[in-house]
Amino acid sequence: MKIIIKTITDITKMRVAGKLAAEVLEMIEPYIQPGISTGELDSICHDYITKIKHAISAPLGYHGFPKSICTSINDVVCHGIPNNLHTLKAGDIINIDITVIKDGLYADTSRMFIVGQSTTLGHRLCQVTQDSLYLAIRMIKPGIRLRKVGQTIQSFVEKQNFSIVREYCGHGIGKFFHEAPHVLHYDADDDGVILRSGMTLTIEPMVNAGARHIYVENDGWTVKTKDHNLSAQYEHTIVITENGCEILTLRSDESLPSIICHYN
Ligand code: MF3
Ligand code: CO
Ligand code: CO
Repeated sequence: MKIIIKTITDITKMRVAGKLAAEVLEMIEPYIQPGISTGELDSICHDYITKIKHAISAPLGYHGFPKSICTSINDVVCHGIPNNLHTLKAGDIINIDITVIKDGLYADTSRMFIVGQSTTLGHRLCQVTQDSLYLAIRMIKPGIRLRKVGQTIQSFVEKQNFSIVREYCGHGIGKFFHEAPHVLHYDADDDGVILRSGMTLTIEPMVNAGARHIYVENDGWTVKTKDHNLSAQYEHTIVITENGCEILTLRSDESLPSIICHYN
């Protein structure tokens, strides 16, 4: 599959989509409280995306996915389906994954929320996962091999005695939800892909507190850790620039600059 290089017009539209997706995560934060159901979180996000932002929730109907967002709690690695009967409880860690389409272009982002106070392990897992994403983002520039991104994430995470999920990866994005290339979060063959300016992709490491192994539940979507230990994930959509990258889905709670520039 060919990697689609975006035009300035595409990138301008993706900046709008990215800001919108980030705003959904900012908007939903105060609702993350014990007792709210993941179904309620889904409908709040859906209404915000469609009625207030006049955009489309990309997951809804994607390969038959039944809801507008993914909600992945504790041992759920990714693709958790919102449900009116499943309520949050204090100490849970939850990933909310938002993908929107605005003016024909996609942006995809997710973050962890801690419900009340979690365990030390829960906090550390979320922090290490976000740090691994930031480490990867800070090294992105044209001319580097995609493989180096996976290598960097894996070695950082494994040094903390956590593990990287291998079955799911980041991806090109923009004209479609999932484009080439696959962005692996571990060291493996990258088909020789070299990053070039105008490429747009996601980085979205899934990090397990225990072993890396996962299984998919009978609903065909919910991915869980085999050992039922905690899993965390953070995701950004970025564009590769002439000398670094720009984070299209940056939120106000983050301290990274949106534009990362390497003078070489
Ligand atoms: N947002 C996910 C990703 O990061 C994909 C979710 S697909 C869905 O690629 F169908 F589960 F929504
Ligand atoms: Co993604
Ligand atoms: Co996503």
